[in-house]
Amino acid sequence: MSTQQWNEVDDYLIATVLPADPVLAAAQAASAAAGLPNIAVAPNQGRLLQLLAQVQGARRILEIGTLGGYSAIWLARALPAGGHLDTLELDPGHAEVARANLAAAGFAQVAQVHVGSALDTLPSLAQGDPYDFVFIDADKVSNPDYLRWALRLTRPGSVIVIDNVVREGAVALADSSDPAILGTRQVLAMLGAEPRLRATAVQTVGVKGYDGFAIAVVQDPAPQDPAPQDPAP
Ligand code: SAH
Ligand code: DHB
Ligand code: MG
Repeated sequence: MSTQQWNEVDDYLIATVLPADPVLAAAQAASAAAGLPNIAVAPNQGRLLQLLAQVQGARRILEIGTLGGYSAIWLARALPAGGHLDTLELDPGHAEVARANLAAAGFAQVAQVHVGSALDTLPSLAQGDPYDFVFIDADKVSNPDYLRWALRLTRPGSVIVIDNVVREGAVALADSSDPAILGTRQVLAMLGAEPRLRATAVQTVGVKGYDGFAIAVVQDPAPQDPAPQDPAP
């Protein structure tokens, strides 16, 4: 098993299963030309996000961490007519590239890129209808806060996906002092402990290296405890 083999297999899977996609290829090229880091999801991962949002029937999607809009295009493609995507990005340069890529993909009216630190933007989104699908993929230190916001901004049945939860296996280092790993370990612990969530986390290999993602579905509230019985006569 080698990273070369992971890359070869991923290249094969992507070439075989995913049709050539000039719109996404152009978005990727524009992001690279603008000097953005090469950390967008892989094509087969983007398709997975699209499929998850599609099976959920998502009409309103929230993304935290836009970069050049690559995953945003995949998510926007899952939306029915009248659907909406809000995507949050700290870096104004990234946001500018993303807006252009989303417009070129036909989603200028569907996707709104919000510039600023996500924790500053999220409170303003609480006014709207709940989101059906949330993709968390920004700074990993804030993942616990992002999950708390995702719980506030969703409804039972909504899906929450968190990217990059394995990081070459570093997530399993219980004594790590890396703030990103600490944030990820804390968010995974929240997924396991939160009664409002049914969650899993899986490892992935491929052109994006060795990493993983977590998926959770927001649950209906626990049934009310039975009403207290009248005291016996
Ligand atoms: N989802 C994208 C990749 C996102 S990379 C894709 O797959 O195509 C992570 C992004 O999060 C970067 O663009 C980074 O600038 C942004 N980011 C980092 N900290 C942030 C914060 N506090 N608020 C919002 N975005 C942030
Ligand atoms: C990094 C961030 C990501 O969201 C990702 O998918 C891969 C790498 C990073 O910050 O290194
Ligand atoms: Mg990521």
